[in-house]
Amino acid sequence: MHPESGLRSAGWFARQDMAGFVARGWLKNQGHPDQMFNGRPVIGIANTWSDLNPCNASLRILAEQVKRGVYEAGGLPLEFPVLSLGETLMKPTTMLYRNLASMEVEETLRANPLDGVVLLTGCDKTTPACLMGACSVDLPTLVLTSGPMLNGKFRGRDIGSGTDVYRFTAELRAGTMSQTEYLEAEGAISRSEGHCMTMGTASTMACMVEALGLTLPSGAAVPAADSRRRRLGHLAGNRIVAMVREDLRLSRILTRRAFENAIKVNAAIGGSTNFVVHLLAIAGRIGVPLSLEDFDRLGSHLPLLANLMPSGQYLMEDFFYAGGLPALIAELGEELDQGALTVTGRTLAENNAGAQCYNREVIASRDQPIKRAAGIAVLRGNLCPDGAIIKPSAASPHLMKHRGRAVVFADIEDYHARLDDPGLDVDESCVLVLKGIGPRGFPGMPEAGKLNLPRKLLEKGVRDMVCISDGRMSGTAYGTIVLHVAPEAAVGGPLALVQDGDFIELDVAARRLHLDLPEAELARRRQTWEPPAPRQERGYARLYTDHVLQADRGADLDFLVGGSGSQVYREYR
Ligand code: FES
Repeated sequence: MHPESGLRSAGWFARQDMAGFVARGWLKNQGHPDQMFNGRPVIGIANTWSDLNPCNASLRILAEQVKRGVYEAGGLPLEFPVLSLGETLMKPTTMLYRNLASMEVEETLRANPLDGVVLLTGCDKTTPACLMGACSVDLPTLVLTSGPMLNGKFRGRDIGSGTDVYRFTAELRAGTMSQTEYLEAEGAISRSEGHCMTMGTASTMACMVEALGLTLPSGAAVPAADSRRRRLGHLAGNRIVAMVREDLRLSRILTRRAFENAIKVNAAIGGSTNFVVHLLAIAGRIGVPLSLEDFDRLGSHLPLLANLMPSGQYLMEDFFYAGGLPALIAELGEELDQGALTVTGRTLAENNAGAQCYNREVIASRDQPIKRAAGIAVLRGNLCPDGAIIKPSAASPHLMKHRGRAVVFADIEDYHARLDDPGLDVDESCVLVLKGIGPRGFPGMPEAGKLNLPRKLLEKGVRDMVCISDGRMSGTAYGTIVLHVAPEAAVGGPLALVQDGDFIELDVAARRLHLDLPEAELARRRQTWEPPAPRQERGYARLYTDHVLQADRGADLDFLVGGSGSQVYREYR
């Protein structure tokens, strides 16, 4: 035994008393011989695999690859399950459970004899959830995502997760696509294991962790079905053991410079708006100051380089073949802090030295970008005193400055009940407003912010209108959509006061979202406003509702912000 190893796990395994007997003895039922407890790093493999989460279904295989790498490097791998948040099946919304999964990861890491951890993630919320939890413990940590699916193929063309589902659904509602064609597309879109292959939230999160320096280089884009991802798993296992020996903790990598790099990369890839709320929460856990304004100031002037849906045409498989994130990071050059430290123990520049772009259609140069100034814009105004966001690269240029009459839906049920009512007083110049889908109001801030357009307008050929809500939208969605309005309606934000017929002004260039009403009228309405009753009286949803922060603070639970380190609180043996 090696109490002098300095390893955290020695507190369990190096003891010669009853506690040591119990810690080692019971694990031996898995066939681990004595030499597994001789002071070797113990590596947790936090696995979000689940049959209920198709995007993460390949993580069982990856976990085995990681284990091989850990053993080879002289560590002891111990895999454990994490609540898996499957975007396509979970109700009411995975975002409600992101913080719960983060708590599970945090407490599991702290409570067990782990020296380092590999986070196996994939579907949208699984990456930020695991990372948030890991930040609050601050062990050496490496992230490995499941990887994107292969391109969807439908009737001779490539189709993308989410993005084309929205398109097909609009065509179906407009009567320009048959139900038979719709069903055929359903069977053609998910052709392999892996997560959504558009630049949706899962791909955005995968790029985020690579830009933060938390994955091995190229980790974001290697397709799930490509054997190179399995090799990444093996190498991740090798590397995490070395990270423990180097005491390369999360807090050494997740510095302010890493967060700034991630914001800039997100702008260049046309990443999901969900990036904002997740990065704010991660920064809060690791103790790096980050504000909504940072996203606009650091990213909005940057060009769009990745030509990927929903902002562009291609998919993650194409992105990988074109050089992936290493090529894009190299293209951004001095825009990034290339000296930032990563999990390899080397800098971002060292990791990506020699990276090349093999297809300028997919990864554009800075001289000839896909779009100029495409990063997320942060709006302010009397409708969103604590901010709101819009993704200009996915919006319609002709709506970026717009004044329109509000058509207001009180909540998601009201929206579904009245949207297609032929009597709804709406035309394409109106602004659709949906209240009650914020963190507290829904609860859980669902991806309901990309509103379907009224059927009668779709039939006229309208495909985009200004939509405003306190919710989020899928990273695969597109349109002129104002999201994350803070404070949300359910806590009495000005959004709660908007009524049918009010006029709203959106001016993205001026970063302005304005409700055109005299302050006296707003004050009058505020006096009669009453908060909605909580949707859930008990259980986790009640805890969440009582403690969730607003979108501009990452929608974390107030008592989870920050960290407690890896120290066990108390021992009794
Ligand atoms: Fe899981 Fe899109 S549904 S990544």
